[in-house]
Amino acid sequence: MIKACLFDLDGVIVDTAKYHYIAWKKLAKELGFDFSETDNERLKGVSRMASLDILLEIGGISITPAEKERLAHQKNEHYVSFITQMQADEVLPGAREFLKACRKAGIATALGSASKNAMTILERLELTDLFDVVVDGTHTTKAKPDPEVFLKGAEALKVNPAHCVVFEDAEAGVEAALAAGMKCVGIGHPEILTKAHLIIDGLHQMDLQKLNNIQ
Ligand code: BG6
Ligand code: MG
Repeated sequence: MIKACLFDLDGVIVDTAKYHYIAWKKLAKELGFDFSETDNERLKGVSRMASLDILLEIGGISITPAEKERLAHQKNEHYVSFITQMQADEVLPGAREFLKACRKAGIATALGSASKNAMTILERLELTDLFDVVVDGTHTTKAKPDPEVFLKGAEALKVNPAHCVVFEDAEAGVEAALAAGMKCVGIGHPEILTKAHLIIDGLHQMDLQKLNNIQ
């Protein structure tokens, strides 16, 4: 019996990867090297600091921890300048509808994201009210594949992990869901999300019947 749905944000509810990409690309340019879209694939689902480590590795740059803090802050300023311009119609197809359907059916909803900008994004997309609980990068210390973000979500909802379904587009996120003892719906490439219980292209392909059929 499914009692709660927990959603990753980036790549599940909204396509913020393009904004992360242009923000990292801008930072790379400031540092004097190019950053490609292929390189950007390596950053999906990865925390801000771990993403910076990958970017610096690509640019062959070695710096002090203090300088890294400054660059991470600089990238976030670029990113925030993009996401604060987002419009409500940028919600991915079917996401708003599925969230509403869950709540109508008495299924609790939570966000489980690594992003420290999750609240800003939910507000821009006018989605804040559709989540009973929001757990984001400001509440967690361990990155996915650690299950912390989803376990905190289930705990706040007072739902046993066995009755939760997670929606994720990243391999590390699917692993986090399974490590939490939850079911997982993978969104995206079947070859990457092999461990998910069900794989779909997007929330537009999801409905309550499919949710309750997840084994
Ligand atoms: C994840 C994204 O959801 O959040 C990553 O997939 C991002 O690309 C991470 O680096 C952290 O986001 P933020 O907004 O705190 O820099
Ligand atoms: Mg994601």
